[in-house]
Parts: sequence; C-alpha cells; structure tokens
Amino acid sequence: MSINPSKAQDVWKDVGESVQFTVLKFKDLPRQELHDAIVAFADRSQAIIRSMRIRDTDLAAATGLKVAFGFSNHAWDILFPNTPKPKELETFKGVKGPEYGMPGTEGDLFFHIRDADHAAVYETQAQFMRFLKDYTEVVDSTQGFRYFEGRAIIGFIDGTEAPAVEDAADYALIGDEDPDYENGSYAFPQKWRHNMDVWNHMKTEVQEKAVGREKFTDLELEDEDKFENAHNVASQYEEDGEEKKIVRMNVPYSDPAAGVTGTYFIGYSRHWTVTKGMLQNMVDQSDFLLTFSRILNGQLYFIPSRDTLAQIADDEFK
Ligand code: HEM
Repeated sequence: MSINPSKAQDVWKDVGESVQFTVLKFKDLPRQELHDAIVAFADRSQAIIRSMRIRDTDLAAATGLKVAFGFSNHAWDILFPNTPKPKELETFKGVKGPEYGMPGTEGDLFFHIRDADHAAVYETQAQFMRFLKDYTEVVDSTQGFRYFEGRAIIGFIDGTEAPAVEDAADYALIGDEDPDYENGSYAFPQKWRHNMDVWNHMKTEVQEKAVGREKFTDLELEDEDKFENAHNVASQYEEDGEEKKIVRMNVPYSDPAAGVTGTYFIGYSRHWTVTKGMLQNMVDQSDFLLTFSRILNGQLYFIPSRDTLAQIADDEFK
C-alpha cells in the first residue's frame, strides 16, 4: 500500500482563515471511563464534521472546514495501553541549546480546526466539547487568523519553502514504514509569544537578515547577507546531506488591546525526527526568532488516519 490522502485527516493542506487550536488534558477519572468516552468520540467527531460540511456555506471551496485531532503519548498510555504505538510517538520533553530552550508541556488531545467562516470553526469545537467536557480540562485554546497575504505576524510571507500542496501529503503522511498507522501524521503545535515592540523597532534590513528573505518581495537573500542565526538557516534540517521538509501551517494570534501577539506554529510530518531535528537546530544555533520571543507550550501528537479512527470507534484499540 502507499499513502492515500483521502484516508487522512486534514493534516496536509489548507491553513484556513479562521483557526482554532485546542489542547485538552484528561480529568483524573478511571481509565476505562476515559477510554469509553474517546471510543464514542472517535465516531461522533466524524459525524459532526460531515454534518458541518453540509451546513457550511463554503462547502465546495478550498477554504471549507478542515479538522485534525489526535493524541499525545501520555494520552495513548491511558487510552490504549495494550495496543502498539505508532513507531515515533513519544513525549516531547523539550530541547535545549546554549542560550534558549523550548519546553515540552502537558496535553492529551489536540485539535486544529479551520475554515473561512469563524462560525463553522466555533460550532465544530463547541459540538466536540459537548462530548468531551466531562472528561477533559482545557490546557490552551487559541484563535488564530490569516494575516494579509499569508504573512506571519512579523510581516514576512510564511510557507514559501514548505512543500507545495501537490507534494504536501508525501511529507505529512506516514507511509508503509509503519503499516498499522499509514496515513496518520505527527503533529507538533507550539505557541510562541513575540515581543512586538522589540521586533517593530528593528530596521527592515535587520529583520530581513534575521529571517533570511526580503520582506516585501519574499525573495531569499544570498547566504552571505543573512545573519548566521537567520531563521531560514537555523531551522533547516538535513539527513544524509538531504534537506528535509515538513508541512507548516502557522498563523498569528493576537489580543492587541492587551498587548499579546504571537505565532501559533503547527508542523505536520511523516517522521517526527524531522520536526524534532529542526527544533534542535533552532535552539543549537540560537535562531533569531528566539531572541524576541517566549515559547508557551509544545507537545507531539499523533493524528490518526480516518481508518484508524474507525478502528478506535469499533473499540479495537484496547
Ligand atoms: C514564531 C514562529 C515562527 C515564525 C513566525 C516562522 C516564520 C517563518 C518564515 C517567515 C519563513 C520563511 C518563508 C518560508 O520558507 O516559509 C520560515 C521558514 C521556515 N521555518 Fe519557520 N517560523 C516559525 C517557527 C518555526 C518552527 C518552530 C520551525 C520548525 C519546527 C520552523 C521551520 C521552518 C522551516 C524548515 C523553514 C524553511 C527554511 C528554508 O528551507 O528556507 N519555523 N518560517
């Protein structure tokens, strides 16, 4: 078998315009109760998504509802202790470099919901919570948005060197290296908060050296014109001399009146080692983005294929 994107959740395309990121953790309840709730939810969630797609006015548009949800290693141990795990599923314990670190934080369930219409995003998460609220507590809930021209909130076009949509599934979906979990994906959400005053006081030329690209045109700078710790240098990751890619769908979030602004990073990959390698390189090289930012949370989640969700719904995972 080879990968089949139609069997996957929405992990390989469509950043969306209105975006909801939710991290939940289980309440301290008997294991069997949590297991039964998730078995029921695996079925319910797919019906909710189908129903929302009928109700959503953007039904046919590429901007229509997209949903991915999955489990952390911690959740798997509680829910399915007798079922072998996806090969690369582990608890992210954080990475450290000489000056900066990235924490690994708590979370059992992760949701990434997006649409052109915020009402559809709201309704989907609200319906999910009807079935989950008795079993979970909210660790983080963040609403992101598409900024002008798909720019990151720091003003640069985001996603240029991520795989084009035609190739994205190959980078995001698990293949026959782990046949039981084919068409699943490893999701790594990470919430950053930026000190926008510091960033906005830098001259455009300095910002361009920090990102490694021109701000208006998005053209890449020559290597000698970038800072050594430019983001597009520090985040690169190679294996056997080959540059590796992941599918990135970051969006900004902000509460401008409260002075809170950041980037919600989300990367989907076929191999968690690739995303983890990028994170390690960023801290090892003190990526410029880290110099004016604080990282609030981050954890690895396995996003099951729709076939795997159906097996969970049939209570095949013990
Ligand atoms: C605050 C968070 C972040 C922001 C605002 C941000 C923004 C950007 C921007 C503007 C680019 C250049 C355009 C592009 O190629 O997409 C870029 C490139 C890239 N970013 Fe990020 N990013 C963030 C975090 C991360 C993290 C956590 C990772 C890794 C897990 C990452 C991995 C990459 C990679 C691999 C590239 C392409 C490098 C290349 O080959 O040129 N980014 N990012």
